[in-house]
Amino acid sequence: MSTADLAKSLPPSPAKEHFIFKNAYYMANGPLEFLEENYNTMGPVYWVKSPIRKIAVLNDPECVRHVLQENNRNYVKSFGYDPLKLLLGNGLLTSEGDFWRKQRRMAQPGFHKEKLAAIVDTMITSTGQMLLRWEKLEGVELNVSAEMNRIALDIVSKSLFISNVEDEIDKISTWVTVAIEQGAERIRNPFKIPTWIPTPSNIKQNKAITVLDEVITGIIEKRRADTNQYHDLLSMLMEARDEDTGEGMSNRQLRDEVMTIFIAGHETTANALTWAFYVLAQNPQAEQKLKEEVDTVLQGKPVSFENLRSLTYTRMVIDEVMRLYPPAWIIGRKNVEDDEIAGFYIPAGTNCLIPTLSIHRSPKFWNDPLTFDPERFSPEKVKEQKKFTYFPFGGGPRLCIGNNFALMEMQVVLASVIQRYTFELKDKTPIELDPLITLRPKQNVYLKLVKR
Ligand code: HEM
Repeated sequence: MSTADLAKSLPPSPAKEHFIFKNAYYMANGPLEFLEENYNTMGPVYWVKSPIRKIAVLNDPECVRHVLQENNRNYVKSFGYDPLKLLLGNGLLTSEGDFWRKQRRMAQPGFHKEKLAAIVDTMITSTGQMLLRWEKLEGVELNVSAEMNRIALDIVSKSLFISNVEDEIDKISTWVTVAIEQGAERIRNPFKIPTWIPTPSNIKQNKAITVLDEVITGIIEKRRADTNQYHDLLSMLMEARDEDTGEGMSNRQLRDEVMTIFIAGHETTANALTWAFYVLAQNPQAEQKLKEEVDTVLQGKPVSFENLRSLTYTRMVIDEVMRLYPPAWIIGRKNVEDDEIAGFYIPAGTNCLIPTLSIHRSPKFWNDPLTFDPERFSPEKVKEQKKFTYFPFGGGPRLCIGNNFALMEMQVVLASVIQRYTFELKDKTPIELDPLITLRPKQNVYLKLVKR
């Protein structure tokens, strides 16, 4: 479409405006409420008036498809990804264009299903160790949020570095947690103080980045000097060669990709698993059905790569949890050139925000949307789903590279835990959503661990 053919009018804006910060004030102060309210009252796309930047919100699956898939070449990541660059550098999540394409091509084979078979063994071993530790905690109100964070970090660490780097992994876990907390703090705080000003938060963040750089570079250098064969994600990334030039990744690039996989690969999964146990503790029927499936398929034996495919209801539970609690609750893109969406003019440089959570909970696409009902994801029902009404892993070429990794991990952990334990929710006060980098529960989730 030539520029002359484009629609001329911007999308409409919500009526509620702050006298200086316009609509953006309300979006910054209560993003979930803002997006929900305007999901119900505005059309397929609306303009968020802001004195600082151009922002549009896409309420409609067709518009989402246009941006993520159809016209993806006209879009780069939006402003929301900037704070992540501090930690992730130019890794897969934050890089763009030809550079991203080259990196994606090189990393992709590491996430193919047959490579994941080996990683599933790591997942099973880590989960087994967690369950062994839990034997001493039976009857206790377990901090499920902390436990899921720990297992997800353990799994992603061991998938990246299978070799003996336990001390380094402990250090990485500690400082990754600090970096994420400080990053979330930066996102929450509307006054972005430059990172070189020594505020307590900046000091912690900078220290975390320095330590992580040192440790990860140390592991990479040690591995370069090692002549043994390893079958982990790090060796896959180190051995990957660019098709055209035959070149491998530099230490700096490896560091960025490793850090990206670390961050993108554990917070999301940990949150989805935490929500899963929280929701199951309140839905005894679904929990019962899950137990029956796990008992029938596993016959008292541990989970294996081969029987994951038979755990269909387990997968349905996971899908439904990520519908109600999508860890990546919002996705953002920015158009390079002018565009037209749903008949409106979208000038170049507009941050197009995709409210995954609102679409996943929309009464337009889901009956009784706030009810937890895994049956929505039965294989027959999935075939009827309209495109981009459910997209926890994003879509188009920038679809999450770890989607199968995450789904397998969640199946392994959920099935292995349910095989042995039930959780009881003592405090029935509803837990609110905390929309930080990922969608976390506002407070830690505590559930009583009861042996079956
Ligand atoms: C429940 C778990 C997960 C969810 C919900 C999730 C969600 C997402 C989403 C929505 C995106 C696209 C972001 C965008 O379009 O801007 C993404 C990208 C990405 N994810 Fe995941 N993710 C999960 C687990 C993982 C895991 C386990 C890994 C790695 C082991 C991973 C690695 C990545 C990477 C590297 C990207 C960037 C891909 C690219 O642009 O080429 N994710 N993820």
